[in-house]
Amino acid sequence: MSAQRRKRRPAARKKKTPHPLRILFVASECAPYAKVGGLGDVVAALPKALRRLGHDARVILPLYASVDRAKHGIAFERSACVHMGRGEEQWIGLHAATLDGETPVWFVDCARFFGRPGIYDAPWGEYGDNAFRFALFTKAALQICKDTGFLPDVIHAHDWPSALAPAFLKTWDRILSPLSATASVLTIHNIGYQGVSHASAFSYLGVGGEHFASDRFEDHGRINLLKAGIAFADALTTVSPTHAAEILDPVGGCGLAPFLAARRNDLTGILNGVDEEHWDPATDPWIPARYTAATLGGKTVCKRELQKRFGLDPRLEIPVFGIVSRMVHQKGCELMKEAIPQALEGMAMQVVALGTGDRATEDFFRSLPGRFPGRAGVHIGFSNELGHLIEAGSDFFLMPSLYEPCGLSQMYSMKYGTLPLVRATGGLNDTVDNYDEATGAGTGFKFQDPTPGALRDTIGWAVSTWFDRPAHLMAMRARGMALDFSWTHAAREYEKVYRSAIARRREG
Ligand code: ADP
Ligand code: GLC
Repeated sequence: MSAQRRKRRPAARKKKTPHPLRILFVASECAPYAKVGGLGDVVAALPKALRRLGHDARVILPLYASVDRAKHGIAFERSACVHMGRGEEQWIGLHAATLDGETPVWFVDCARFFGRPGIYDAPWGEYGDNAFRFALFTKAALQICKDTGFLPDVIHAHDWPSALAPAFLKTWDRILSPLSATASVLTIHNIGYQGVSHASAFSYLGVGGEHFASDRFEDHGRINLLKAGIAFADALTTVSPTHAAEILDPVGGCGLAPFLAARRNDLTGILNGVDEEHWDPATDPWIPARYTAATLGGKTVCKRELQKRFGLDPRLEIPVFGIVSRMVHQKGCELMKEAIPQALEGMAMQVVALGTGDRATEDFFRSLPGRFPGRAGVHIGFSNELGHLIEAGSDFFLMPSLYEPCGLSQMYSMKYGTLPLVRATGGLNDTVDNYDEATGAGTGFKFQDPTPGALRDTIGWAVSTWFDRPAHLMAMRARGMALDFSWTHAAREYEKVYRSAIARRREG
């Protein structure tokens, strides 16, 4: 081709519509099959939003013993042989279902690793073989792509359980040659959990010994799966813009800040959304009455039902503060342990809490109804129905997290006309506008200091607003209910990240 022809070509070229992408979500949770927290909600909603933009997004997750196969129409498709390190072979079953009538979901069946009740833990603590379990799952996901001929443009991994996918893609190219063009994106939902385990698991991964290095797998003599994902992924994201900056800080990065800083140009913060098919008070099948901002009568019905179900005094004039949370350090449990009893002693208010977590926090919440009869109600356990009822029936929603990458519950509460009371961190800071007493502006109540005093005072501020400035409260409620948290915006942002990851993968 002559130099002249080559020069002219760009001017003559028509702008091409970018081709739709094949995207495989490799994840350890996906609601309603398996969910511990917000990760399950995101993995259910984002692929659906991407499909609606025209992409072929699918999900693969382990078939835990707790997944109800009959209820979800999960059917066996084929077997596959997965090759791990040490020359180990593991036969797995591939099962399939369709989520929300739209998203194809695959399940990896391996009784040895997933035929047990928990997702990550048993009641006595974390499973000791988690590195093996999720290494097998992640490798199986790639094997299935190869066997079925579904060759994704992008593999989207989530947190430490699937962080090995980027590493396997880069280190197993020779064997997995059909995936040599597949790019990988790793989303960090929670950097507080990194998948650190004994180095003896390394040989099971089948990754070359040279990768047991401090800028990849090695972490103080152990292996760190999230760190490996950060090293190998073509692009990194986390779930809010504020948190993308927080994890570059030594404290927020939980030991990984230097590695993330080295990749700061590949890191994007994209705010999660709300799946309005499942979280909308106008259509929610879990709640006793449906409502909108214009017909709030249904919310009162929900409040009455909530007070009844949690054994609270049936008093509509008293504000109810709801909590739906994993009961772990991250969620500000130490602040709640001091501030909630003080608030209940001094203020006209009620509290309902739903959650599971560490023993001491569960015990604290269990003790509340006895100490404050008719004013505190608690359910220790996991219940979708009660989760929705608390969002709908409460007046305020408590989320005093020490750190919160995004947080979905505060967005759900705004959609349900329940004012969030949050600490100004991560996604909580990005999604809630603080109340301004002078103008009545805002969508919730925020505080900065991670202290019980600051939490108690902010509860006091919300209670005084309830009694003294009800018009402001109603306006805030309407403002929150009108916010657009749909996933479409986030899906478009992810599409950009996918395309840049693909370009990077092609470059080398
Ligand atoms: P995280 O992912 O850190 O737990 P998020 O706010 O992002 O926090 O998401 C929490 C999700 O888990 C929400 O959908 C919330 O309703 C749900 N959830 C947490 N604990 C329970 C529980 N005990 N029962 C029902 N749903 C729960
Ligand atoms: C994590 C975070 C939470 C986030 C969720 C979904 O579990 O703790 O803030 O909303 O993932 O991204």
